[in-house]
Amino acid sequence: MTLAITEEQLVKSRQRVKAHGEVFTPRHMVERMLELVREDLETGADFVDKTFLEPAAGDGNFLVAILRRKLHAIEKQLPAESWPTESLFALASIYGIELLEDNHQDAKAVMLAEFHGFHQGHGTPCGPETDLHQAAAFLIEANIIRGNTLTAQTPEGLDIQFSWWHRVEGKPGAVQREPFTLASLREDNGFDFTVYDSYQACRIEKIHEQETHA
Ligand SMILES: C[S@@+](CC[C@H](N)C(=O)[O-])C[C@H]1O[C@@H](n2cnc3c(N)ncnc32)[C@H](O)[C@@H]1O
Repeated sequence: MTLAITEEQLVKSRQRVKAHGEVFTPRHMVERMLELVREDLETGADFVDKTFLEPAAGDGNFLVAILRRKLHAIEKQLPAESWPTESLFALASIYGIELLEDNHQDAKAVMLAEFHGFHQGHGTPCGPETDLHQAAAFLIEANIIRGNTLTAQTPEGLDIQFSWWHRVEGKPGAVQREPFTLASLREDNGFDFTVYDSYQACRIEKIHEQETHA
């Protein structure tokens, strides 16, 4: 019998380990850790909307495992006609911050690929021209941000800004975007003077078309 052993690359270079503490968590350990929050991720009420933030996202290994589990649970528990919408709400619930440019790009790419794979596997059109693709790419751009979690700033020195994506009561599939800064979540932040853009509610599949309004 031959044993196939897949080697994961857990370290890219000594220099990166030293400078950024970059050692990736092996996949089996990621899965064991996510088992600890299985109810939030997969079985509990409102599992699609349960929020996760990876503050040192690396190449997205935790983010994509979270997404995969949510998509699998959607497939098992919800009617097929809701999968496009629910898969977008699942994406909207997953946030990440990553310091390094290449890891940040990898994390976003792996999320989009996972989302694509899910829909392609079910024969749902998800090409670049579709709303489904564009809404997914938009949510990934908005939720997985390059920056420093410790300072709560982007490389340009701006506050890291995320958005909540609230469901709108009585309007299935509609989303209300509400921006917030990472700094505002910290207890010691005091008064938040940020002037936030405001948005009207819209279908989540059309979120990429939304403009701010005064
Ligand atoms: C130890 S790796 C872990 C990656 C992933 N979380 C995992 O467990 O496999 C740490 C990652 O955090 C990033 N990082 C280090 N300091 C950071 C900071 N202050 N803010 C955001 N990301 C940071 C590094 O660039 C690296 O990709």
